[in-house]
Amino acid sequence: MRKTTLKDIAEAVGVSKATVSMVLNNKEINVSESTREKIFNSAKELNYIPNSVARSLSTKKTETIGIILPDIENPFFSEIARAIEDVANKFNYNVIFCNTDNKNDKEEQYIKLLISKLVDGMIFLTGVGKEESINILKNNNVPFVLVDRYMENVEEFNGVYCLNEEGVEQGVDYLLQNGKKRIAFVTGPMELSVSKKRLDGYKKSMTKRNIYKDELIFEGDFTTEGGIKVTQSILKSKVSVDAIFYGNDAMALGGMKVLLRKGYNIPEDISIIGFDNIRISSFVQPELTTIGQPIYHMGKEACKLLINTIEHKDEKKQIYFKPELIIRDTV
Ligand code: RIB
Repeated sequence: MRKTTLKDIAEAVGVSKATVSMVLNNKEINVSESTREKIFNSAKELNYIPNSVARSLSTKKTETIGIILPDIENPFFSEIARAIEDVANKFNYNVIFCNTDNKNDKEEQYIKLLISKLVDGMIFLTGVGKEESINILKNNNVPFVLVDRYMENVEEFNGVYCLNEEGVEQGVDYLLQNGKKRIAFVTGPMELSVSKKRLDGYKKSMTKRNIYKDELIFEGDFTTEGGIKVTQSILKSKVSVDAIFYGNDAMALGGMKVLLRKGYNIPEDISIIGFDNIRISSFVQPELTTIGQPIYHMGKEACKLLINTIEHKDEKKQIYFKPELIIRDTV
């Protein structure tokens, strides 16, 4: 059984292939209403699926957006991907998700693949911020939007960002208001610009109160397993802490698991605060206090900004979102 073609419909209705193509593509053509109806009915009966590659070669558009993200298992990325897809579908765009594990070569491979598939634009979530990837897109004139991925000359790029330093400062202030002083900070992967920004917010806040100590900083990897490992090393390090500020919720959830299993009471023995406000953070016990990012809203605005750029090539725009302290039960 082979794929139905325009020729099959033309023979079934008794018109030329060109007529069928013009009618199915809603082009201006002088045919009777009954012929038009016969063509649409025959296409339906024969389950005709237009060849999108052929179509995009002529229209130079695929109505497809590439989403490049580091870790689809991290709920932050699946939640923001959901928002991007909702907006894309509303504007009749499809999406292709690419998981890079923050590996540059994988990211560049995906960018080249998506360009070869003629995607109309790309959204970069987090990532290392290497110029190479961006240059490939610029050289191929592919519209793109950065999310939480800081480049040197940020105003040169379309981007959606959270005010990361401000968010961490809010969290440190809240811990201090609750009498905590020996606040450990667990960073994300330090090759990420977003991790550096959050660590800067922590250092600024702790230095302002003369309680900053290098020994209170631990490097994590933004995953739950990484949160488990780094919390075990904090306990082994014998550094005395009365609070742990995790650079994202996924690591905070891992840390809570270790502490609760070792018999610590949260927050009585040790306070915990996270960053993101992923949905699951309100379902764990005790419910996680965290610095919330407007994840859905960020995804929505990033997709709208990209579609705007694809369709109008507007000026470059940076959108900054304010984080919000979400007070629950772990401080
Ligand atoms: O949890 C993953 C982190 O990477 C989030 O904090 C988000 O900001 C993304 O950049």
